[in-house]
Amino acid sequence: MTIQNIMVIGAGQMGAGIAQAHAQAGFDVLLHDMSEEALHQGQKHIEKWLARSVEKERITEEAKDATLHRLHVSSTLKDAASSDFVIEAVVENMDVKKQVFRELDAFAPNHAILASNTSSLPITEIAAATNRPEQVIGMHFMNPVPIMKLVEIIRGLQTSDETYQAIETITNQLNKTPVEVKDFPGFVSNRVLMPMINEAVFAVYEGVASPKDIDTVMKLGTNHPMGPLTLADFIGLDTCLYIMEVLHDGFGDSKYRPCPLLRKYVKAGWLGKKSGRGFYQYD
Ligand code: NAI
Repeated sequence: MTIQNIMVIGAGQMGAGIAQAHAQAGFDVLLHDMSEEALHQGQKHIEKWLARSVEKERITEEAKDATLHRLHVSSTLKDAASSDFVIEAVVENMDVKKQVFRELDAFAPNHAILASNTSSLPITEIAAATNRPEQVIGMHFMNPVPIMKLVEIIRGLQTSDETYQAIETITNQLNKTPVEVKDFPGFVSNRVLMPMINEAVFAVYEGVASPKDIDTVMKLGTNHPMGPLTLADFIGLDTCLYIMEVLHDGFGDSKYRPCPLLRKYVKAGWLGKKSGRGFYQYD
């Protein structure tokens, strides 16, 4: 099967990046969000990113124009009818994702593959909301998508080999590196990363050191390019909390309990960079 027409659901930080990466690789992309404002912001974000790439001489003006030419926006999920492949990047919430997949299953053509960019939720459960579980798969991009090379490809219980191979091929076409991962809570990346971030939040909560000093320790002491609290702000504290809850529920092990301070910040609306405040303040 040739995959050319792609639809991305959710135009937030991940969805916009996923749409951009596919358009840059030559796919025709439709970007959808239920919020007009988010869709507009996502489009603006892509335009700005590409303009900056031209300034830095990473891409040519022609490549930028060709990319934007391949990218269109959509205000309805019904447009999935013209897609060979749909990638969902809406909020990290199982009920919302299941509803989106139910609708996609109804609108997308029979041959279409449906992927989720979930950071931690079970692909098997998302797939069960559809009548095509063998064509449902996890495609976990890293943030920021246009730069980060890794894609964790998660096989649900019923994902077929054909579906896996098609997604592996697309990942290579995006010039990224696929890694096959089984469907367990947090997959590999977040199972290892999130408990570290959560522990850094506990260190703030217990007054062990300031966020800046904790980040400095991890950068200079353990050679991380970015401290865990800066990274948490960058990922989004709501997303971090949700992933910790998925690990906690999924393994039933108290070592994954989310730090109360993380909950408090999320309740306050301090979601990190995207809301202007998290462990640090942003303009
Ligand atoms: P975000 O909050 O920036 O964007 C989510 C977007 O989805 C919003 O624009 C919202 O309006 C839209 N949305 C919500 N419900 C919708 C629906 N029913 N239909 C259409 N649009 C809907 O979130 P972000 O950070 O982009 O995360 C999206 C997904 O990507 C989550 O599953 C997250 O776990 C995953 N992810 C996030 C990473 C990160 O670093 N932030 C890294 C890898 C995966």
